[in-house]
Amino acid sequence: MLGKKIVIALASSAILAKAGIPRYAQRIYPQSFAVLDNVPTGKVFNGTSHFIPPGTTSDSLQAKPFHIYDDSFYDIIGSDPTLTLLAQTDTDPLFHEAVVWHPETNSVYFAQNAGPVAAGTGLNKSAIVQKIYLDEADRILALGQGQNNTQFVNVTTVNSGQQVINPNGGTNFRGKIVYTAEGQGDDIPAALYLIDPNNNDNTTVILNNFFGRQYDSLNDVAVNPRNKELYFTDGPFGWVQAFRPDPVLPTQVYRFNYDTGVVRAVADGFHMTNGVTFSPDGMYAYITDTGLSSGFWGYNYTNPSTIYRYNVDDDGNFGNRQVFAYNEIRVPDGIHCDNKGNVYVGNGDGVNVYNPSGLLIGKIYLGTTSANFAFTGKGKMVVCAETKLWYVNWNAEGADITSREYTG
Ligand SMILES: *[C@@H]1O[C@H](CO)[C@@H](O)[C@H](O)[C@H]1NC(C)=O
Ligand SMILES: *[C@@H]1O[C@H](CO)[C@@H](O)[C@H](O)[C@H]1NC(C)=O
Ligand SMILES: *[C@@H]1O[C@H](CO)[C@@H](O)[C@H](O)[C@H]1NC(C)=O
Ligand SMILES: *[C@@H]1O[C@H](CO)[C@@H](O)[C@H](O)[C@H]1NC(C)=O
Ligand SMILES: *[C@@H]1O[C@H](CO)[C@@H](O)[C@H](O)[C@H]1NC(C)=O
Ligand SMILES: *[C@@H]1O[C@H](CO)[C@@H](O)[C@H](O)[C@H]1NC(C)=O
Repeated sequence: MLGKKIVIALASSAILAKAGIPRYAQRIYPQSFAVLDNVPTGKVFNGTSHFIPPGTTSDSLQAKPFHIYDDSFYDIIGSDPTLTLLAQTDTDPLFHEAVVWHPETNSVYFAQNAGPVAAGTGLNKSAIVQKIYLDEADRILALGQGQNNTQFVNVTTVNSGQQVINPNGGTNFRGKIVYTAEGQGDDIPAALYLIDPNNNDNTTVILNNFFGRQYDSLNDVAVNPRNKELYFTDGPFGWVQAFRPDPVLPTQVYRFNYDTGVVRAVADGFHMTNGVTFSPDGMYAYITDTGLSSGFWGYNYTNPSTIYRYNVDDDGNFGNRQVFAYNEIRVPDGIHCDNKGNVYVGNGDGVNVYNPSGLLIGKIYLGTTSANFAFTGKGKMVVCAETKLWYVNWNAEGADITSREYTG
């Protein structure tokens, strides 16, 4: 009896949802794949394979890339979400991570992937930071060509004196942009850099050691909105990609007080600590662990592909580690919250969106990896997908991270 009621309730919400489904969205029902005819073994699942729900194909998933897993996702996508191609390369992974919107100049910064053999970056040469202007993205958007767009934005290299050596993560900080860098070989240590977009991208190093020891490969950074300190992740990424020496520190999360220079570890116990962000109120920290994917060592499916949530104490320390979500498609990487506390994470097939309780409510399906992305103002998001740069236009608005930069 109960079972029948549930089926009827689902059917009617399906009809309702279908009536209002935007042109580039589709509803995916988890119940449609609770039981599959064939469930592949670990030999078929190889760590890079995607999940194609029954009744869909890779093409149909891409044609309507906004996937609604829960009706609450309608609030995020609005009535007509669009996905627009802003730029692309053949093979060079120029659009990797460290996506940062700088409102004053209305520009968006991002970094090339450091380490892939095809790019030649890592040991022999540093990956680069580049930027685009959102005015140009809006001009492209107005053409209405969406995923089929073929007129691209201008992409310019950020190179003003000092280069960020193998950049990987970034965030707004006191009107400037702080970048994490993985370092290069034995002699260039991983470091935090500060780029000043208002001063010709003048770049300085603000931290490069822990009491005289090299960090492994700094990965990502975020500002805790309550104490305004920088929290950053460090893991053996350069080591497993053969451009950094053996790690001499555990895989950890640190906090750095820019004004006093004090650095302290706040969390350990990870395989590959990766993305970091805070809830809009600063009560929670989210840390991603991409241990499943270990560079030249390949995949280990039983390692984490997990978003952990911590309570952030009044004194800025972390407590109460919880599994917030285990990511279904190869490693949660860059992570950011919207202004309502929903959690967005780049992964193997695009960007997943979770509600504040860790329920997957929807995704932007790209069919390829997105390592990171940034909210770029109300209803706008720029998404990196290695050889493609995307512009998302919908309802969501990011948590206000640019105001975290001021201590006053
Ligand atoms: C993994 O499987 C997918 C098909 O699911 C295939 O396209 C891909 O080439 C495989 N990759 C590796 C590294 O075996
Ligand atoms: C670095 O350059 C050397 C010499 O050109 C080459 O043999 C090697 O394959 C390169 N390594 C990487 C990781 O690109
Ligand atoms: C790219 O820059 C050129 C030269 O300044 C300009 O003419 C063109 O409009 C720009 N492209 C876009 C999409 O704005
Ligand atoms: C792209 O072009 C195809 C074929 O012309 C069309 O079916 C599709 O709707 C277009 N997509 C967008 C986002 O405009
Ligand atoms: C770059 O910034 C540093 C640190 O703030 C400052 O000392 C230096 O003068 C700046 N360089 C330029 C060219 O403005
Ligand atoms: C995978 O990781 C687990 C846990 O770290 C370890 O016990 C196991 O040996 C690893 N397997 C492979 C094939 O590396």
